[in-house]
Amino acid sequence: MPWNTIELNNGTQLPSLGFGSALIPKENTAENVELAFECGFAHIDTAQAYRNEEEVGQAIKESALPREQIWVTTKWSGFPWGDGASKSPEDSIAESLQKLGLDHLDLYLVHTPRLFSGRIKESWPRLEALVKSGQTKGVGISNFTLSDVKTLLHSGEKGPEIKPVVNQIELHPYNWHESKANVEFCQKHGIAIEAYSPLKPLTTYPGGPLDKPLKKIAERLNAKPEQVLLAWVKAKGAIALTTSTRKERLSDYVTAGDLELTHDDIKAIEKAGAKGPGHHKRAAVRIVTTVAVQVAAFALIQWYSGKNSYFW
Ligand SMILES: NC(=O)c1ccc[n+]([C@@H]2O[C@H](COP(=O)([O-])OP(=O)(O)OC[C@H]3O[C@@H](n4cnc5c(N)ncnc54)[C@H](OP(=O)(O)O)[C@@H]3O)[C@@H](O)[C@H]2O)c1
Repeated sequence: MPWNTIELNNGTQLPSLGFGSALIPKENTAENVELAFECGFAHIDTAQAYRNEEEVGQAIKESALPREQIWVTTKWSGFPWGDGASKSPEDSIAESLQKLGLDHLDLYLVHTPRLFSGRIKESWPRLEALVKSGQTKGVGISNFTLSDVKTLLHSGEKGPEIKPVVNQIELHPYNWHESKANVEFCQKHGIAIEAYSPLKPLTTYPGGPLDKPLKKIAERLNAKPEQVLLAWVKAKGAIALTTSTRKERLSDYVTAGDLELTHDDIKAIEKAGAKGPGHHKRAAVRIVTTVAVQVAAFALIQWYSGKNSYFW
């Protein structure tokens, strides 16, 4: 089955594959988003912090797709920070809408719980107000831990008046073990999971224990490892957020929606993922050991020079 839409708790239909505009240089953004549309994406994920909302808006305006067929998410990142304070959600959404050239968003996210400075319950009504004013159809959260989500859901007698529709978190097989409880809790409470950085096992941790099962499954399915990772996200019932500068990859991501992983494939991926990216741990141990040896040597020299100060 190709990438479907996922019905959110406010009744909207979110395409389960999205193209993210993080880290794309301003001058390439419009062209890259247009390429994503051409390859079959209809869901764009951006943020105040990515500093390219204007260029995303330009691509939306120039797209052959009508506005109602494009899902647009942006985030309150509190940028730019001034005098130690972050920009308010009210000012931020107005600025984002103006930059994107839109009169409403499909989804507005709190980029990180840190923006609430520990006052999650008290701050959430400000996000609810943005739905009531019609500036966005839905509001959601990002980088919320299980404990943050619980705090939010237990606010007020009956919980929040308007629930977050999604929690956008980093999700791939190497962090599945630690994310599982959050993912399952959110899904049980009607909050969909958006998985960002799903390809991290290939981009950041190549050479780890996942490489072997990914390659084996990919060969059997006549697919690529990145497609298998996206299919794994889909199998977890999550929305995959990815990106690429290359047309071929973007098309591969779209066709990954047709891959069917077996129960054994998922088990093999998660078993390898549970081992963690391995060599990075070894590299970290090497760095810590080197630093420790250097600190010890420095301390020894200090001690020795103190005892034999006539040497210096
Ligand atoms: N809420 C948050 O805090 C947060 C944080 C991070 C990301 N996000 C969202 O999620 C989106 C996607 O994040 P992401 O970029 O981390 O996603 P990703 O899907 O993990 O990585 C995408 C990158 O993978 C590369 N790639 C694809 N296949 C590869 C392979 N076989 N080997 C090596 N590299 C490969 C692509 O490079 P090429 O361009 O060369 O193809 C592309 O740059 C962001 O744009 C943003 O919208 C949100």
